[in-house]
Amino acid sequence: MTANQKSTHLRQLKNQLIRLQDYGIDEIPCKNQLDLSSPSLPVRSGHTGIAQSLDQIRAEMGECDRCKLCEGRKNIVFGSGNPNALLVFVGEGPGAEEDEQGLPFVGRAGKKLTEIIEKGMGLNRAKDTYICNIVKCRPPGNRDPESDEVGACIPFLEKQLQAIRPKVIVTLGKPATETLLGRKVAITKERGQWQEYKGIKLMPTFHPAYLLRAYTLENRKAVHEDMKKVLAELKR
Ligand code: URA
Repeated sequence: MTANQKSTHLRQLKNQLIRLQDYGIDEIPCKNQLDLSSPSLPVRSGHTGIAQSLDQIRAEMGECDRCKLCEGRKNIVFGSGNPNALLVFVGEGPGAEEDEQGLPFVGRAGKKLTEIIEKGMGLNRAKDTYICNIVKCRPPGNRDPESDEVGACIPFLEKQLQAIRPKVIVTLGKPATETLLGRKVAITKERGQWQEYKGIKLMPTFHPAYLLRAYTLENRKAVHEDMKKVLAELKR
């Protein structure tokens, strides 16, 4: 077994143990009569069983009409990438191109994000990352998602993150960061500083669309520095 395979197995085992802990199991019984189907296994509130797969979560979402964004959308943009990725990027919401294709970050900002991942970090977008958004339908005119829309969609993002349990989450911009941290954030001050989301390390950085709008050396350097920290953590 290579060192890489070993570290993947260890990470998967660790994630499995974290999941069990999430369900309220904080020790592993070793009696042979252990009945794993026992309905008396403790379950922490909010958890009703083993984490769903991304396909199950997508199926549960269905042809969603839980918020008003469904009225103007062409396609639900659920997410794309590797369901076992160590690294998840969370953006704000689909734009016109994403709505058209049903895929996240495929427009101009998406090309910038791909460049950051592939040229900047030396990773492969499809193999090494999973990418999704806080809302899965396009806000009209690309406005920020409203709180009722985020409220209706956040359970799906939470389930996606539980299913993937990456080593690192990168939030792109203020709305994504505020949503996952559950508080107001001054993105220019807090980007580049490690945070935590349900036991997973979270790195806030600038949204690639902001980077394109304010294409200064300082901003590009800032994102570069943030991604260096992410890479170091992934390799740890
Ligand atoms: N901006 C986002 O926040 N998400 C996308 O999917 C595309 C652009």
